[in-house]
Amino acid sequence: MRLHFNTIQFFSPLSGEAGGVMAGEVKVHAPATVANMVCGFDVLGFAVNDPYDEMSICFTDKPGITIINEDEYNLPTIPELNVAGAALLAMQEEMIEEKRGFELRICKHIKPGSGVGSSAASSAGAVVAANRLLGDLFTNEDLVRFAMNGEKVASGVKHADNIAPCIYGGVTLIRSIFPLDIVPLTAPPLFVTIVHPQIEVRTSDARSILKQQVLLKDAIRQWGNIAGLVAGLLKSDYALIGRSLEDVLIEPVRSILIPGFDQIKQLSKEAGALGGGISGSGPSIFMLSKDEVTAREVEKQMHGVYEKLSLDHHTYVTNINQTGVRFV
Ligand code: HSE
Repeated sequence: MRLHFNTIQFFSPLSGEAGGVMAGEVKVHAPATVANMVCGFDVLGFAVNDPYDEMSICFTDKPGITIINEDEYNLPTIPELNVAGAALLAMQEEMIEEKRGFELRICKHIKPGSGVGSSAASSAGAVVAANRLLGDLFTNEDLVRFAMNGEKVASGVKHADNIAPCIYGGVTLIRSIFPLDIVPLTAPPLFVTIVHPQIEVRTSDARSILKQQVLLKDAIRQWGNIAGLVAGLLKSDYALIGRSLEDVLIEPVRSILIPGFDQIKQLSKEAGALGGGISGSGPSIFMLSKDEVTAREVEKQMHGVYEKLSLDHHTYVTNINQTGVRFV
């Protein structure tokens, strides 16, 4: 499907009608996300309020996509090699009769390779911002579809468990990506503690070590947990959420890449966390708690483990972001 976006009615950039539009520029904050939610590999994810990336986009006379990095990460600026660029290229393919290009400025606060959806924030933020510039021509589902091209650049495969929560906010279930079937889920208040040990785990590597076949008994346990987690979220049943935060398929393989993983998990649970595990493909670890006091105690335990291991790390105590990419 190709759309004539320049035949639609544009709102005035100066009218103040739509948030984020000032003198033809759209600015957004794109949140970090925790994919998998322990048992839901590639099908569950949620957005968090901290950290987030800052981005802005405007039209430019230069056709195509111009990327300007305003951070320290030195990411590629060739659109095809940049996750945000790849997402915007996919969007442009469905627009015609447009001679102008996009100029995208990115200031990343979510460290690439941290496991909290850094690439998703870039690609989702870019397409949400560009869509506002186009007068909200595309649906959220279209935007997820475009942004998944960024995930392909980052990890070699399309998956939406970071992209969808980044765009929709909250907790999302991605029942299918071909065709896209995204189900936003309600959830009770949850505090999230994240620790990011300063090592890099590439998603492509973390995917390549996974077993391609699983035992039926493990599959049964896993889908019991996924169903239990979704039911627990919808019913605000914290105990059920906690019991369901178990992964018998992916975590046993990937956790080997993360120093201190078992100890952090055990100490966090002893401190009162409902449960948690690897955030996305790692190396970050996340824990869910019912209240902030517990979430801060969990943070203390995480610090303790990495201080003993002399491993540099960052922590965040945050909660679930309900809005997704936000216009500022
Ligand atoms: N579901 C993906 C994975 C998320 O675990 O490989 C990557 O952030």
